[in-house]
Amino acid sequence: MIKEGFSLKFISALVIFIIIHTNIYANDKDMKIRLKSPGFKKEESLKAILQRRYSCRDFQDRILNLDDVATILWATCGKKQDSVTGATRTAPSAGATYPLELYLVVGKNGVDRLKEGLYHYLIDEHTLEMIIEADKREELARACLGQYFIKEAPISLIITAKFHRTANHYGKRGERYVYIEAGHAGQNTYLAATNLGLGTVEVGAFTDENVKGLLNLDKDCEPLIVMPIGYPSKN
Ligand SMILES: Cc1cc2nc3c(=O)[nH]c(=O)nc-3n(C[C@H](O)[C@H](O)[C@H](O)COP(=O)(O)O)c2cc1C
Repeated sequence: MIKEGFSLKFISALVIFIIIHTNIYANDKDMKIRLKSPGFKKEESLKAILQRRYSCRDFQDRILNLDDVATILWATCGKKQDSVTGATRTAPSAGATYPLELYLVVGKNGVDRLKEGLYHYLIDEHTLEMIIEADKREELARACLGQYFIKEAPISLIITAKFHRTANHYGKRGERYVYIEAGHAGQNTYLAATNLGLGTVEVGAFTDENVKGLLNLDKDCEPLIVMPIGYPSKN
């Protein structure tokens, strides 16, 4: 009796330990993947990161760490949990209208603890939600006018925007604000990737309709920047 009670408690504790330490609810479609709080690799001055930033188009076939991916997503335009200023996001937003939505294309064996697929990053929750389970990298590379380094990168982050959120406040001028905001987010991605020893490049050359179709975006959501991310190849 005592033994049975003990093993039940032990198994429950083990299951809870695994859930907490893997940070994953489940890795299936319609399930959310809880991400770890951001953690940068080392203390590095902003000057040093800016000096090292460059556009990388040559990636190693090497798996990424889910926690690094979480850090990059958060840095791009994530929500600050312990905000010490009034700002609640890592990137500024005109009138705090927050038009940006982030998507992630993950290749097979691209990220540890993550299946290949298309994911939506839920900014408020700092979670990932799977939309489609499939390796979409080749299709994405084709949609980006055959820039095949996108197929080689383990993941691509896609910055998209719901223009109406900003246009409702600012009318036609809101469109300009959305593009400015996407640029802020993209630079954050570059800086976070650089700190983590990863490479990326902002890709703006793609066929809108093809990227939109691939991501299964709502009518009012437009893709703005594709950012393949991976360990840079050593030359
Ligand atoms: C809006 C924008 C669109 C870009 N589109 C592409 C692209 O489609 N393909 C690409 O390889 N690089 C693209 N780039 C990256 C630039 O080519 C790169 O930033 C430039 O050559 C300077 O190099 P650096 O980033 O290493 O300083 C783009 C950059 C920006 C800002």
